[in-house]
Amino acid sequence: MAGTTEAEKLGAFIDASPSPFHAVANAQAELERAGYAPLDPRSSWPDGPGRWYVARDGSLVAWQVPAEAAAEPSTPFRLVGAHTDSPNLRVKPQPDTGRAGWRQLGVEVYGGALLNSWLDRDLGLSGRVAVRSSQCSELAELRLLLVAEPVARVPQLAIHLDRNVNDGLTLNKQAHLAPVWSLGDPEPGRFVRFLAERLDVPPASVAAWDLMFHDLTPSALLGAEQELLAAPRIDNLASCWAATGALTSAEETGDPRQVAVISLFDHEEVGSTSATGADGSMLAHVLERTVLARGGTGEDHLRALAGSVCLSADGAHATHPNYVERHEPEHQIRVNAGPVLKVNSNQRYATDAGTAAVFIRSCEAAGVGFQRFVTRSDLPCGSTIGPPTAARTGIPTVDAGIAQLSMHSARELCGADDPGAFRQVLRAFLGGG
Ligand code: CO
Repeated sequence: MAGTTEAEKLGAFIDASPSPFHAVANAQAELERAGYAPLDPRSSWPDGPGRWYVARDGSLVAWQVPAEAAAEPSTPFRLVGAHTDSPNLRVKPQPDTGRAGWRQLGVEVYGGALLNSWLDRDLGLSGRVAVRSSQCSELAELRLLLVAEPVARVPQLAIHLDRNVNDGLTLNKQAHLAPVWSLGDPEPGRFVRFLAERLDVPPASVAAWDLMFHDLTPSALLGAEQELLAAPRIDNLASCWAATGALTSAEETGDPRQVAVISLFDHEEVGSTSATGADGSMLAHVLERTVLARGGTGEDHLRALAGSVCLSADGAHATHPNYVERHEPEHQIRVNAGPVLKVNSNQRYATDAGTAAVFIRSCEAAGVGFQRFVTRSDLPCGSTIGPPTAARTGIPTVDAGIAQLSMHSARELCGADDPGAFRQVLRAFLGGG
């Protein structure tokens, strides 16, 4: 079946990327295989044509400058944005807690998680740890950590102790979500010792962390004809995977009058306002510096922005068969029916008629059908990186993405054909099509 292989590749990318830091590391590895080189924001940047990226924390911007664009600094950008983060449970700074003979870890809920989806799953741990040497003067080294084996679990209460649970489960974020991970009385410093053993450093070297839990069940094709992909973090690693693949698969941008860019942002699920989020300065600074590095002026930079277009790639809601009434009846969305163009006149999505037409042209150039989404008028609409990216850069933006069910669950569901088709559309878009 067409698309199966692409869905499996996406599943492998998702399984290897349980944290935004791992998503960036894996995108970075693919970019380097395609000839992209890292640039240090503290150094001066090359003025010629080439392929580069800047990776910072859980975010990454990569771009390619064709020879013609190197000579003309006001060359516009073709930009695809996506986000690396997903809702999950994150380890508190002093996590060691517990009761009744259980050792537990205190967690914060990151983003708008479907809390029930985290119950009774065997959880691994991932993220990064700041490790110091013994000299206090030295800066900490940020080390990636991936514990890909079951270390913790949020146990559900037995139905015998809550007979009404199936009428509506209520979970208190403070009281009901601390995973169990060991037996005995709570022991301050136990979690630090666990990290120190994993990283092979003394416990005193562990300064701080950005660590989170993930379900260990591998991504899998699902359905009578394996026409679906069941996986965590489809929102929005599917778009990160498609954007990275679109940029690296383009031998050249196809259109020498464009600078192709992808921007993978952290912190979308908590509103995008951060140093590396879509409502921060990272992307705008990188775009400006690519112009200045080629000898461009401030005016060249603004001219480049004025001719640019952005495609903000993020998940879309497929129509749920058990809750059809939650969806706009004239805008039903199906999986494996092509990417979804998202419209909201209240600017929860950045799409307008002009940018919608650009997206439609890219779908036609890729030979891929598309669908149009708008939310019910009596339901609030979610948002994404499109509006802040458009606001921060002034670049006209279209919001589009892959249809899925169970958005923000620890395990989501999409069509197996859609990721590969979306990648084709992004490739056509980045090529100027
Ligand atoms: Co999203």
